Amino acid sequence: MLVDLEITRHDEAYPWLLQWMTAFHRAQAAGAELSAQPHTAKKGGLLTSVISRLNPRLHHLQVRTLQPIDGPSSAAHFSFVPGHGKHILRYGSAFLMVDRQREKSINIGTAEPFETITLTTLYAHRHIFERIFTEAHQLFQQMQEGKTLIYNSMGPDWQQFGEAKRKRPLDSVVLERGVKERIVEDVQAFLAARTWYLDRGIPYRRGYLLYGPPGTGKSSFIQALAGHLDFNIAILNVSERGLTDDRLNHLLTRVPRRTIVLLEDVDVAFVNRRKPGADGYAGATVTFSGLLNALDGVASAEERIIFLTTNHVEKLDEALIRPGRVDMTVRLGEATEYQIEGIWDRFYADVDPTGEAKQRFMARAKELGLVNSVSTAALQGLFLYNKDDVEGAISMMEGLSAGKDRRQQPHVDHSGHVDVA
Ligand SMILES: Nc1ncnc2c1ncn2[C@@H]1O[C@H](COP(=O)(O)OP(=O)(O)O)[C@@H](O)[C@H]1O
Ligand SMILES: [Mg+2]
Repeated sequence: MLVDLEITRHDEAYPWLLQWMTAFHRAQAAGAELSAQPHTAKKGGLLTSVISRLNPRLHHLQVRTLQPIDGPSSAAHFSFVPGHGKHILRYGSAFLMVDRQREKSINIGTAEPFETITLTTLYAHRHIFERIFTEAHQLFQQMQEGKTLIYNSMGPDWQQFGEAKRKRPLDSVVLERGVKERIVEDVQAFLAARTWYLDRGIPYRRGYLLYGPPGTGKSSFIQALAGHLDFNIAILNVSERGLTDDRLNHLLTRVPRRTIVLLEDVDVAFVNRRKPGADGYAGATVTFSGLLNALDGVASAEERIIFLTTNHVEKLDEALIRPGRVDMTVRLGEATEYQIEGIWDRFYADVDPTGEAKQRFMARAKELGLVNSVSTAALQGLFLYNKDDVEGAISMMEGLSAGKDRRQQPHVDHSGHVDVA
């Protein structure tokens, strides 16, 4: 008698299982290679050949390419996952048939084919399912350790974007004195207060709004915070075309576990106050009321942490900054003295151990009026360009001040490219 177990693409365990099969296949291939060496072949020649006959390896491999989000594209990572069709694996003493099938129907929302994997084994061996899933889950967790997963929206669903990123250390984001600590403490207090919320029937969620000019560390901080809390992060750009009120609402009700929601550029919704037309169609972007409704609708038994960011605080509306929607608002501004020194230390602590060059740099920064007027991103760009070269950094400061006078930063862009012309 046979038993089978079906798992669909939409199940959380689907990618774990694929990953497990890949790992299992690799281990088997490595084992086969070992036994093909002459000295082992002597011992187990017959046995090996029988096993390899009984134990066909995965065929129909499918390539899965993951581009690192912030690395060079040459760092793309390929892995071979079991392709569609039937595979037979030997697991311990049990045989297992793995059938990966693509359904005819297509998920309209994501335009992705619907898929299932069916595992079949003898009834007597049914206990291996549990073992396989336990292993697959452990493997998945191992690979995620020290990493932050980034989810993007894909139609009505969230989908992992790129490879898991190494956690960004909180130290690497330099905010004004005490700001980081204040936010981190607030989030931690929130996470510790689960029963308080549930006992009072209050939706267990907390909203944060970070605002300020571009390049002041809003996105970076949220990413570092996610890593610090061992959360993943689901990013949604409110200005994205095609993100309708309905989709936003739906996405917010389907956030993966232990995931911070990051809504970037929420100001777009402030200018888009158009009400849905008679046909209920509100246009291709999120409306103001759509954003409020979506935030209000977020309720789950799990904790829900939402960060909103905007570069245009002047477009904010009182209605947004209401407890339950946004509970804490923080401005991240241009680099203060404290931040300039902090970022300097991160780059030059080794080459400027006495801080002598830092003092000269700070004096010059004040002279040029850079304090509280250049972005931390621009500073980082300057320091990246002058890696290990404190004199270079000092002599190129004027470039930053020229950019400041024109109320922009043409000399140093966010990715750290410096225009020396
Ligand atoms: N306060 C900061 N501390 C450390 N790095 C920063 C800071 N602000 C900006 N950066 C760097 O500048 C770049 C852009 O920052 P980002 O977080 O995207 O800014 P924002 O979201 O506020 O526009 C990133 O490479 C980031 O590492
Ligand atoms: Mg940002």
